[in-house]
Amino acid sequence: MKVKEIKRILVTGSVGQIGSELTLALRERFGAENVVATGRKTPPSDALKNSGPFYFIDVAKRETLEEVVRKHNIDTIVHMAAILSAVGEQNPMRCWDVNINGTLVVLECAREHDMARVIIPSSIAAFGPETPRDRTPNDTILKPRTMYGVTKVAGELLGDYYFRKYGLDVRGLRYPGIISHETLPGGGTTDFAVAIYFEAVRNKRYTCFVREDTRLPMMYMPDCIKATIDLTVADISKLKHHSDFNVGAMSFSAGELAASIKKQIPEFVCTYEPDFRQAIADTWPMSLDDSAAREEWGWKPAFDLEAMTKDMLDVLGRRYREGKVVVLGA
Ligand code: SER
Repeated sequence: MKVKEIKRILVTGSVGQIGSELTLALRERFGAENVVATGRKTPPSDALKNSGPFYFIDVAKRETLEEVVRKHNIDTIVHMAAILSAVGEQNPMRCWDVNINGTLVVLECAREHDMARVIIPSSIAAFGPETPRDRTPNDTILKPRTMYGVTKVAGELLGDYYFRKYGLDVRGLRYPGIISHETLPGGGTTDFAVAIYFEAVRNKRYTCFVREDTRLPMMYMPDCIKATIDLTVADISKLKHHSDFNVGAMSFSAGELAASIKKQIPEFVCTYEPDFRQAIADTWPMSLDDSAAREEWGWKPAFDLEAMTKDMLDVLGRRYREGKVVVLGA
């Protein structure tokens, strides 16, 4: 397979939790004008709005994507637009439409334009209750119970299908819960691990929607950005997997997360009131075996729980003291 050079990238879902930071990181690396941000909502930050091109598109509608691809001569799509697990359970048909039809639109567009690369993230939601939950292997049982998970497994299979059938260079990684302080996540099961920091700084209290002993794999945003870009530029001759890399960083229970915050904010109190998201979390891995990513493209995370908590509380604490409102649910 001839490797094509990445020159002009389009990011779908660029206003989302990961997309908003990933777009800026890609602009640093590939040049601001070469990274076109797209989304359905107004960009949350001036940084995203002012640092390069932005277009409103609906990824499930081919013509809206096509127009931008042609205008900017796009050769790479980083497909971040997706409906997450909790919102997906409230509206499964919409989850299917955005995640499946959107992904097919992206793949077909990339194939017809003979693109250099497509990045389609997957998730720990691709696994299910029959999967081994401790150090979940890369290649294992994929029988998810959420619509989000169903669409993510389909996305992985489609990515590999397009690679084998058409020689389209599609790559993907299974994100664990992603924790960050810039843009809030939009309706996932792992959102408690972000909300807890915001509430700790603002109220010194948090009511967690999963049990104290709920253990899930998680990752801090700088590692998430690094993993995504490292896989994007990895040497294809070294890759045995394509659309389905496990990427681990840390694994902790909700109680351990609360304890790490309490070490720095002793008054912090966390209580637990599990809701429908508990049942989702109970079907997901507790930790991941990511040796395929480590061996095939050199994956290595930098942040553990302690380092992440320190950084999160430093950033959010500073913002709070400067009077910049820390609002949840925005
Ligand atoms: N963070 C996502 C969710 O909770 C998992 O990929 O839905």
